[in-house]
Amino acid sequence: MKTIIYYFTGTGNSLAAARKVAAATGDCELIPIALLRETRGAIVPQAERVGIVCPVYFFGLPLMVAEWAARLDPAAAPYVFAIITHGGGGESAALWQLDTILRKRQGRGLDAGFGVVMPGNYILKYESPQGKEREEILAKADKQIAAIAGNVVRCEKRTLPASLVSRLLYNLVYPWFRSHVRTDDKKFTVSDKCTSCGTCVAVCPSKNIELAEGKPVWKHRCELCCSCIHTCPVQAIQAGTETEKRERYRNPDVTLADLKIGTEDMS
Ligand SMILES: Cc1cc2nc3c(=O)[nH]c(=O)nc-3n(C[C@H](O)[C@H](O)[C@H](O)COP(=O)(O)O)c2cc1C
Repeated sequence: MKTIIYYFTGTGNSLAAARKVAAATGDCELIPIALLRETRGAIVPQAERVGIVCPVYFFGLPLMVAEWAARLDPAAAPYVFAIITHGGGGESAALWQLDTILRKRQGRGLDAGFGVVMPGNYILKYESPQGKEREEILAKADKQIAAIAGNVVRCEKRTLPASLVSRLLYNLVYPWFRSHVRTDDKKFTVSDKCTSCGTCVAVCPSKNIELAEGKPVWKHRCELCCSCIHTCPVQAIQAGTETEKRERYRNPDVTLADLKIGTEDMS
């Protein structure tokens, strides 16, 4: 059975989860949603099983994912599932948002939705868990992903998790996120440590960064994924005064090269 998994990732958690499920399904193509951002029209996956894997942002979907989902037409796929990675909450609201978009546009929602707790990466507000705490979170996530992979392989239908608190928080904070996210890159600065290596340009899923005179310039179509801050090899990128003190994060199962946009064929 052919599977296509679309993913969005900033620091690799969602990619790591998507890969593990892809490996279990066998014949699977992994497609970065970022690669489709400049295409137009409906996206009609030629597969029996379709998956969407992405992080939760402010109790909802990354904006790129929400916009892309409105173009997805999985009506012909017998099984459609989603996995939301998150740092501790909001997955049920993000799944509900995704399901609502698909139902509204294509009359066909998710057959199953899952949340997986992974290290939080919103470095503007906090430091990602370090050391033993991080290891424990990742070990627990691995077990959960293995169980989800089993559900997906068996095409098990699942009622979406529901949380009134999450929905309430979505209503409170997501509108703010939606209206600020593109230009929140105004907070980003670069120090003299910058070596003009271009890593930030290569990992940015929205192609929001250009080098001007060798230094990154943000073009205000940001997703706030924080990939540029986390992956800079010399930690030259900051957002405000707090990020300098915070350790950077990348999921240990992905390499820097993996975060640069491309397609993967797992078949
Ligand atoms: C802008 C932003 C907003 C976030 N909002 C939430 C949130 O509302 N709830 C939560 O549990 N985690 C939140 N997170 C943490 C991520 O969802 C989590 O670390 C995720 O696994 C990152 O996936 P990635 O490595 O594939 O980018 C947020 C992260 C960012 C960058």
